[in-house]
Amino acid sequence: MAVIWGIVGLLVGLVISLQLLWPAFNFDLPWLTYGRLRPLHTNAIIFAFGGCALIGTSYYIVQRTCQTRLFASGLAAFTFWGWQLVILLAALSLVFGFTSGKEYAELEWPIDLLIAVVWVSYAIVFFGTIAKRRTPHIYVANWFYGGMILAIALLHIVNSAEIPVTLFKSYSAYSGVQDAMVQWWYGHNAVGFFLTAGFLGMMYYFVPKQAGRPIYSYRLSVVHFWALIFTYMWAGPHHLLYTALPDWAQTLGMIFSVILLAPSWGGMINGIMTMSGAWHRLRDDPILKFLIVALSFYGMSTFEGPALSVKTINALSHYTDWTIGHVHSGALGWVGFITMGSLYYLIPRLYGRTEMWSTKLINTHFWVATIGIVLYVAALWIAGVMQGLMWRAVNDDGTLTYTYIQSVKASMPFYMIRLVGGVLYFLGMLLMFYNMIKTIGQGKSVDVAVPMASAPAHA
Ligand code: HEM
Ligand code: HEM
Repeated sequence: MAVIWGIVGLLVGLVISLQLLWPAFNFDLPWLTYGRLRPLHTNAIIFAFGGCALIGTSYYIVQRTCQTRLFASGLAAFTFWGWQLVILLAALSLVFGFTSGKEYAELEWPIDLLIAVVWVSYAIVFFGTIAKRRTPHIYVANWFYGGMILAIALLHIVNSAEIPVTLFKSYSAYSGVQDAMVQWWYGHNAVGFFLTAGFLGMMYYFVPKQAGRPIYSYRLSVVHFWALIFTYMWAGPHHLLYTALPDWAQTLGMIFSVILLAPSWGGMINGIMTMSGAWHRLRDDPILKFLIVALSFYGMSTFEGPALSVKTINALSHYTDWTIGHVHSGALGWVGFITMGSLYYLIPRLYGRTEMWSTKLINTHFWVATIGIVLYVAALWIAGVMQGLMWRAVNDDGTLTYTYIQSVKASMPFYMIRLVGGVLYFLGMLLMFYNMIKTIGQGKSVDVAVPMASAPAHA
């Protein structure tokens, strides 16, 4: 389902990219307008694509590394169907215009309740499996998944506190600047835990597995975990610089964001150094290429993020497409690629095959998607800096040099390049879908005989 929702989410991303160039592509239908499709894109890609990938890989990894079957398999099945129901209700309600208006938390209160029930069930299955493990040790990938599960439960429940007025409408329990602060405490930690910690769990299992090497430093991975989760929690105010939020809180958010570079890069280096002694394998192993390039994008976006948090840089970047470029270097490069690499490892094993149907196709996917990301991100970086400079340019008499619409017109060529980049990335995903179907359908199952004790060894 991760692959299928990935295709849906990217397709909606393409439609809204098209609408930024040609607004008439909403065909004057309310449910196809940008304001409704944009949250559909973010929800589909983060919670449907990302969520299915996280839940699926965590169930696999926790069983392998704890050498035991899932706790409460009926409840585990419920988490799958429950999550699909959430996705379906989300898609319908957003398209029909129901929204709480909080970014990444747009869904209305009945769906919020369902999410809480499914997520708590997920926590019971995951931690129940850890509790009945047959190994003395809890492998670090599980720490990251466990941290993600606890933090998302906390974030979702606190940020979704709302007063229902009808079945389809509620108002936030918070108001004014408190509401904004709770929202961006949630929003930033959704990035930190959903889009980062969970995918780091994936990284800590699949990179050593695919490279056939132990993780570079197990000690560093534990330091990485504690430093990352402690620091992320404080960085939310960088989304509210130059707002009514008290200045000291903005500065606190900025300082913690700059500190965040250290644990992020510690993790990135730990992943990349795991390749030492196996670099030659990158030449002909496209799955490793996905995993290692994902880590490089993780390093890039966690360098860029702290920079964007610095008040003087944010004064230029905020509201511009630089932010959107930053988002997608993390999203397409890190989240997308680490998931694709992990799923290419996982799919044949889940269906008792030795490998994917076509390695060549994985390689083509890798190159098409990489070119797509470079086009997407570079175009928006340039557009973003240009917009920021145009908006702040003033004439000698203090009037603005450019009208807003001039900056919109100047952005059009870059939106076109972004669209081309997006199409390439989407085509790569279609190749993955085809390869997956062929892998599942090919020949007779073979016994891949993966031993249960397959936790990556560590130094
Ligand atoms: C050290 C790590 C990071 C820091 C300090 C950081 C910092 C920032 C800053 C300062 C902004 C712009 C806020 C604004 O002007 O409105 C931002 C936006 C954003 N970042 Fe990051 N970033 C980091 C890593 C990442 C990663 C790895 C991802 C994705 C996987 C990501 C996803 C996002 C998203 C989705 C937004 C847009 C939020 C919104 O306004 O809707 N960030 N980040
Ligand atoms: C074919 C690939 C993609 C295309 C064409 C695309 C396109 C877009 C567009 C046009 C926007 C709205 C930007 C704006 O309002 O100016 C957007 C926002 C966003 N997209 Fe994508 N996207 C793609 C893939 C992804 C992926 C894979 C992820 C996450 C894993 C993602 C996460 C987001 C997020 C979090 C935002 C909100 C950013 C913000 O508010 O600052 N996108 N995307």
